[in-house]
Amino acid sequence: MSSPPTATANEVNQKLVEGYTEIARLAGALAHEIKNPLSTIRLNMELLAEDFDQADSLRERRALKKVDLVQRECQRLQDLLDDFLNFAKVRRLKLQPSELNGQVKQVLDFFRPKAAKTRIEVVDYLASSLPTVLLDREAFHAALLNLVLNAEQAMPDGGQLVVRTYGTADGVALDLIDTGCGMDEKTRRQIFNAFFSTKRGGSGLGLPTARKIIEAHGGQITLQSEPGRGSQFTVKLPVPARLPASLTDR
Ligand SMILES: Nc1ncnc2c1ncn2[C@@H]1O[C@H](COP(=O)(O)OP(=O)(O)O)[C@@H](O)[C@H]1O
Ligand SMILES: [Mg+2]
Repeated sequence: MSSPPTATANEVNQKLVEGYTEIARLAGALAHEIKNPLSTIRLNMELLAEDFDQADSLRERRALKKVDLVQRECQRLQDLLDDFLNFAKVRRLKLQPSELNGQVKQVLDFFRPKAAKTRIEVVDYLASSLPTVLLDREAFHAALLNLVLNAEQAMPDGGQLVVRTYGTADGVALDLIDTGCGMDEKTRRQIFNAFFSTKRGGSGLGLPTARKIIEAHGGQITLQSEPGRGSQFTVKLPVPARLPASLTDR
């Protein structure tokens, strides 16, 4: 008697991947669906706020306060949906031969004016002559920016952000070290979980998105952190043995 056919591990895996992809697609579609009515609500709240612009009675001022609150919550929902869509997006990376240092400089140039205002000193040690890596520059920029903004938020009273790049045995790496609040063990365990946040109004999608992008590049992101002693994120990227011919002319 022959035994009934059993699914191979590969088939089970394939089914899981298909199931996950379908859920991700539905969640994305749902987020889009919510955005439309949400923008109608926002628009009407703006009009309502204009109607109450010269609120002089107590009743009108109270109404205006409520309109304000609804507007703020709508904004929060919209930001959350945008972050979620950005996280759930299935990316086809547009890889280009790139210099890690150039990418880091771009993010830091963007951040420096903000840092000056919040008394954060930015120090960079960028290694010279690092090998070229393949990056989707837009996605990688977004990933780095998430890390830098987290560092900023961890240092509300100012501090120092050190960024250094260096070569490794099989690639290049980047350390981002802040002198911020740091993280305890429980927080460290959860930071890459979608929606985990210790911040009021935080989406908890910054690090999961950054990790997804870095791993899609074949890279890794790791963390060292202690409460009160700051945090260090390390991003490692592989260097291709040879640049694919199709990409070398860009
Ligand atoms: N540089 C950092 N210093 C201290 N805590 C951090 C740092 N980066 C991330 N975290 C912790 O990880 C959590 C998740 O970060 P993230 O995914 O970017 O979401 P969000 O910034 O919206 O909270 C944060 O809420 C915070 O607790
Ligand atoms: Mg964040």
